[in-house]
Amino acid sequence: MNKKELINSGKVKSVFNTDNDDEVIIEFRDDMTAGDGARKEIMANKGAYNAVISSKIFRVLEENGVATQFIDLPEPNVMVAKKLEMIPIEVIVRNIATGSLVRKYPIEDGTKLNPPIVQMDFKDDEYHDPMLNDSIIKALGIATQEEIDILTEKALRINEILTKFFADSGIILVDYKVEFGKDKDGNILLGDEISPDGCRLWDSETLDMLDKELFRKGKDDEVMTAYMEVYNRIMPEDEKVI
Ligand SMILES: Nc1ncnc2c1ncn2[C@@H]1O[C@H](COP(=O)(O)OP(=O)(O)OP(=O)(O)O)[C@@H](O)[C@H]1O
Ligand SMILES: [Mg+2]
Repeated sequence: MNKKELINSGKVKSVFNTDNDDEVIIEFRDDMTAGDGARKEIMANKGAYNAVISSKIFRVLEENGVATQFIDLPEPNVMVAKKLEMIPIEVIVRNIATGSLVRKYPIEDGTKLNPPIVQMDFKDDEYHDPMLNDSIIKALGIATQEEIDILTEKALRINEILTKFFADSGIILVDYKVEFGKDKDGNILLGDEISPDGCRLWDSETLDMLDKELFRKGKDDEVMTAYMEVYNRIMPEDEKVI
């Protein structure tokens, strides 16, 4: 698999074309950002931990019938994936109220949300990722009603699978963000990454944070320990590559 030109360099990953038109190489860098990129630090090996954790989660989802971009992980920080035309929506699923939800609405931090909340934000840093609804999505021409329904259904199915997957490792999946895209045949696949960068993960016993929230709170020296804890808990010994 030969890496060709860079087609997209985001805040934490670089996407390259390959000699196969339908596949990309996604390099997970060690950058960590918060506040739409306002704060940025380098965290040693963070890219590798996120790529390995994401790959494990994509494999688990595939085993449970959810189609993802994942093809291979040739190096700990390098994922080969199906090339997708990304849909600019961050699909967020919340099982427990915290973060922006409790800042914006009269709901107490820690409230269990059953059924879970599915929220869609416009993925656009310039507009600060405003929340969407079905009519806004259709007015902007981002997705059809049928596609919105598919995204909602997929996000809830992912939630069921991952809530159980993390619970088996003593971790509560509090909330998470995913991105979807279309492959060359127009199928909607799960893309991007699922890692402690975009999930809130709490230890089931202590409720300690095991995700990027530590960085948002300025606890930079605890971040990598938390990511490694997630890695060590969810990865079977014979699948460990770091
Ligand atoms: N399978 C894929 N095919 C093509 N692009 C993808 C794929 N998976 C993820 N991407 C895109 O790769 C880009 C880089 O990821 P990264 O998370 O670093 O970017 P970001 O900072 O979140 O986003 P952006 O730079 O687009 O605002 C993102 O735009 C993401 O949507
Ligand atoms: Mg991103």
